Amino acid sequence: MPGNDSSSAMNIVEFRDISLRLDGQREILHRINLEIHQGEALILLGRSGSGKTTLLKLINALVVPTLGEVYVEGRPTSQWDPIELRRRMGYVIQEGGLFPHFTVERNIGLVPSLEGWPPERIRARVSELLRLVGLDPELRARLPRQLSGGQRQRVGVARALAADPSLLLMDEPFGALDPITRSELQQQLLELQQRLHKTIVFVTHDLHEALRLATRIALLDAGRLAGIYTPEEFRHSKNPLVQQYVAAFAGV
Ligand SMILES: Nc1ncnc2c1ncn2[C@@H]1O[C@H](COP(=O)(O)OP(=O)(O)O)[C@@H](O)[C@H]1O
Ligand SMILES: [Mg+2]
Repeated sequence: MPGNDSSSAMNIVEFRDISLRLDGQREILHRINLEIHQGEALILLGRSGSGKTTLLKLINALVVPTLGEVYVEGRPTSQWDPIELRRRMGYVIQEGGLFPHFTVERNIGLVPSLEGWPPERIRARVSELLRLVGLDPELRARLPRQLSGGQRQRVGVARALAADPSLLLMDEPFGALDPITRSELQQQLLELQQRLHKTIVFVTHDLHEALRLATRIALLDAGRLAGIYTPEEFRHSKNPLVQQYVAAFAGV
């Protein structure tokens, strides 16, 4: 917030010296240090297998570091109740991750209902969210399989927003969509971030998507953080890895 140094400097997430070995064997992440600021859209960019999903799952404690600590709102994830931690953040995965046997309404209303909201408040919230993500509230009665891929993705975003979390974790949420739907959803996400001041941690391997959405881009390479850049810095970086990325997307 302008004029308030302590809150503008606040890191909603901090990775401090994070290393991760699976089964005590192969190292998946190596000494990651990264601060995610309140209100920013931080993009985790990297090739397939570079560790993006794993890094995101460290934030909601689906993965636990071998070394180091992840801090959320200043407290190590090891000291959070995992359920409470996860309810404070929205999580969107590719294909939406909706429960197939729940209606759209029940999928979106899941966390509010776990939090004990009265049914009429949930109903109103579901209608509000469906409109927010550009869907007709009448879709509330449908099952996920009765929706298109783009509609399912929008429902996934609506569900993540349901209990109004300040932090959104998004793992290649628009990956499976056609370019036009994808562009529409990117635009809606930008508006959400600007209007509702959400902090967004967004995983993608797509440079165009990263440059469009990012306040900053964290580039991952084989489990290491290769650099952190604003979109402008990324475009002009002399880092060979960055230049390789830019060259690979130049013709698209
Ligand atoms: N549960 C797991 N068991 C074994 N290997 C895993 C597991 N999760 C991730 N990995 C490995 O960790 C590396 C990083 O994976 P991931 O974070 O999914 O990368 P990305 O999301 O960038 O594609 C990959 O080499 C992947 O094969
Ligand atoms: Mg992944």
